[in-house]
Amino acid sequence: MRNIIIVTIITLLGAAWYFTQEKPSNQTAQNTTSIIVPELTAAAQIGETYFNAKCAACHGINGAGTQKGPTFINKAYRKGHHADESFQRAAKLGVAAHHWRFGNMPPVAGITRAEVTKIIVYIREIQAANGL
Ligand code: HEC
Repeated sequence: MRNIIIVTIITLLGAAWYFTQEKPSNQTAQNTTSIIVPELTAAAQIGETYFNAKCAACHGINGAGTQKGPTFINKAYRKGHHADESFQRAAKLGVAAHHWRFGNMPPVAGITRAEVTKIIVYIREIQAANGL
């Protein structure tokens, strides 16, 4: 009996927490000047060209975000939270909208694992320069 009460209380607290959490609203085209762009390594510079060709239309120049996709200069996308493999998976399979209200990310056609690996180097260097 006591266990049931404890479980019920925990469930209610969890539900209360869940429903009071606001879903993060879409960050509209963030001001790119607020993002610190470090001096990029050679690998990151190559990643930047792939990123600008295949990702920036939605994720913005320097990963700053647009109306169509989230910025990566956000703690939600730091390494501890979104491991490198999640970038590979996103590019290959797309992403069902779950974190924001931008809608789904379609799979990115014509990009290789090696190219995404360079993109990750690029994004991680910008994240690091911005304290992420
Ligand atoms: C057509 C727009 C669009 C393009 C192009 C695009 N993305 Fe996305 N991406 C999105 C949206 C929208 C989301 C957010 C989905 C959500 O969590 O709600 C997203 C989310 C992600 C995520 C987070 C995945 C997760 O597990 O939450 C990663 C990583 C990502 N994109 C990487 C990339 C990379 C790398 C490229 C280029 C190769 C790319 N995206 C191109 C729209 C796009």
